[in-house]
Amino acid sequence: MSTHSKLMVGNWKMNGNLAANASLISDVLAGMSSVGCRTAVCVPSVYLSQLQTLLKGSAIDLGAQDVSAQLSGAFTGEISASMLQDFAVRYCIVGHSERRQYHNETDALVATKAQRALAAGITPIVCVGESLAEREAGQTEAVVKRQLAAVIHANGHCISEIVVAYEPVWAIGTGLTASPEQAQQVHAVLRAQLQAASAHADRVSILYGGSMNATNAAELLAQPDVDGGLIGGAALKAPDFLSMLKTASR
Ligand code: PGA
Repeated sequence: MSTHSKLMVGNWKMNGNLAANASLISDVLAGMSSVGCRTAVCVPSVYLSQLQTLLKGSAIDLGAQDVSAQLSGAFTGEISASMLQDFAVRYCIVGHSERRQYHNETDALVATKAQRALAAGITPIVCVGESLAEREAGQTEAVVKRQLAAVIHANGHCISEIVVAYEPVWAIGTGLTASPEQAQQVHAVLRAQLQAASAHADRVSILYGGSMNATNAAELLAQPDVDGGLIGGAALKAPDFLSMLKTASR
């Protein structure tokens, strides 16, 4: 179990527009008085400035969905960690399975991205998770341990400063959720790996992600090593997101 309060992070992915973002955030902020967990939203980079303004002084932290592994220079389309820093970004997702899959991101690249975020004072939310084929082949633990090991190898000295998100690829956006027991089993493996790497591993929040919603959040969050959630679809609906935030505040 992490020593912190639960952390609930909305991953907006490539959704939203100026008007929809303003309306969603205003609805969520209206219900935040009864929320006691840590909360963040990871938004498309073009909206970081908008959200920085909307979230100012609120209990919701700002997050990005990716960061460049490069520091600066001739990398068209890339966004550096220091640019994120300019917009008071507190968290940055790295190694989401959609980036590993569609942008061929390797474990080593993800580890460098985590390093860039940490160096800029931004907490990387490092995503790990197995595909359905890997689960069926009994490789779940080996896959997530390999993915986390790369990040530990590159960031050993400050590994207690990261957040980990276990997101089984087969559960993302599919409506299929890992059972609480399946999630806990993998989270315990990740926790042990972090403990072997750092005396302060209990500071690391290990989030579950993959079709988490207002109905299944409570039983997932009740698991001893599930320290919060990384929420896609359900974070785009204010009542659902708020309901999950309240569940995580208990
Ligand atoms: P989902 O996405 O909640 O829509 O399954 C989670 C994620 O990919 O972070």
